[in-house]
Amino acid sequence: MKILTTNNIKISNQLIDQIIGQEHAVRIAKLVAKQRRFLLLIGEPGTGKSMLAQAVAEILEQEKYPIYDILSIPNKEDPFLPLIKVLPSQETEKYLSNFKKKLEKSFLFEKYLFYVIYFTSFFVGIFLYIIYKGNINYFLLSIAFIIIVFLIQKSTLKNVGNAYLPKVLVKNQPDKVPFIDATGSQLANLLGDVRHDPYQSGGIETPPHQLLEAGAIHRAHKGVLYIDEVSTLSVEAQQNLLSAIQEKKFAITGRTPGSSGTMVRSQPVPCDFILILAGNIEDLQNMHPALRSRIRGYGYEVLTNTRMPKNKENTYRLIQFIKREIQIDDKIKDFSFEAIVELLKEAHKRSNQKNYYTLKLRELGGLIRIAGDLSSLDNSPLVLRKHIKEAKIMALSIEEQLQRIQNEKT
Ligand SMILES: Nc1ncnc2c1ncn2[C@@H]1O[C@H](COP(=O)(O)OP(=O)(O)OP(=O)(O)O)[C@@H](O)[C@H]1O
Ligand SMILES: [Mg+2]
Repeated sequence: MKILTTNNIKISNQLIDQIIGQEHAVRIAKLVAKQRRFLLLIGEPGTGKSMLAQAVAEILEQEKYPIYDILSIPNKEDPFLPLIKVLPSQETEKYLSNFKKKLEKSFLFEKYLFYVIYFTSFFVGIFLYIIYKGNINYFLLSIAFIIIVFLIQKSTLKNVGNAYLPKVLVKNQPDKVPFIDATGSQLANLLGDVRHDPYQSGGIETPPHQLLEAGAIHRAHKGVLYIDEVSTLSVEAQQNLLSAIQEKKFAITGRTPGSSGTMVRSQPVPCDFILILAGNIEDLQNMHPALRSRIRGYGYEVLTNTRMPKNKENTYRLIQFIKREIQIDDKIKDFSFEAIVELLKEAHKRSNQKNYYTLKLRELGGLIRIAGDLSSLDNSPLVLRKHIKEAKIMALSIEEQLQRIQNEKT
């Protein structure tokens, strides 16, 4: 096919097929999704690690696995050990409304008691009005009394009732596989927490099951948990993560020392997810050996490519990459033939190797966007070669700019 501009370049609507130059990683990612394995992705920034992880979630979505919500329910026997219920996402609403109905029934006596108070006060008001020969004040007083009692009823009964409703800890859309990016999460965010309740006693405390907060590991249930910069995870976090992937369930407990939350510990909460860790080569040293060994035992380790051979197929794939960046950005015009050639040249130059293209594609994408911006400034219908050339200068890093100034001086 003769390529004139990027106008007629077609790209797949599947994320996994949009990833270029990482054939090995793509193959593994497909296996990981199909067989629900773990994955450790190591590679240079901007080579497609996050994209691969998202693609795994997208593949899972197409498999039409059921998606679940997770709820906490008060435990009458031991309120400090809230019960956990897992429901297919589309059933949660119905379950909650049934629960509410049942709860309202259990408050039926209180409800009737209030009705009796209303009627009695009303008739007492009328009675006094008649006795005191049309003195309206007594009647108004009874109405005021009814309003006050009504407001009290509304606030107390309703609050008490709602407090005993289940809390939805994890809510999903029925057709959306959870993809949870827990990069840089603190322990409480990763594993869940129990909020501190300042009113622990005296009858106005929040029931413990309402204080539970799900962690990323729970929100990723039946989906993908992605953690980049794996070395920033503390040893404690890695140990707990290991136990979560071994058990596929993990109780939520308070994590702030001294907080009332530490008295609460939920039933084990399911957390059956595909763990995808990512990082660069240096990150490996800080990885917990047991966690790494678990991933190796039940999954794959993949090094993403930094460059790809400069052949016909890869050249076409790189043009598809340009098209994808144009489509995603939405503000960039199509590339002219000369602009495509110029960008391919730059991709070659950046690989620092004969007959190769770079796969540090985030940075190359940056260049595409700058060139696109420059062409808009020119009101040009296409991105032209001159825009790429100018963009290359504008895309220089601070270090490169300093170097340039120094070179100009000498
Ligand atoms: N192999 C690839 N194929 C197509 N596009 C890519 C590829 N790699 C990177 N990109 C482009 O670069 C962007 C950033 O890539 P991504 O976030 O996947 O990189 P990363 O490897 O996770 O980087 P980091 O290590 O900085 O997190 C993507 O959104 C995509 O536009
Ligand atoms: Mg990333």
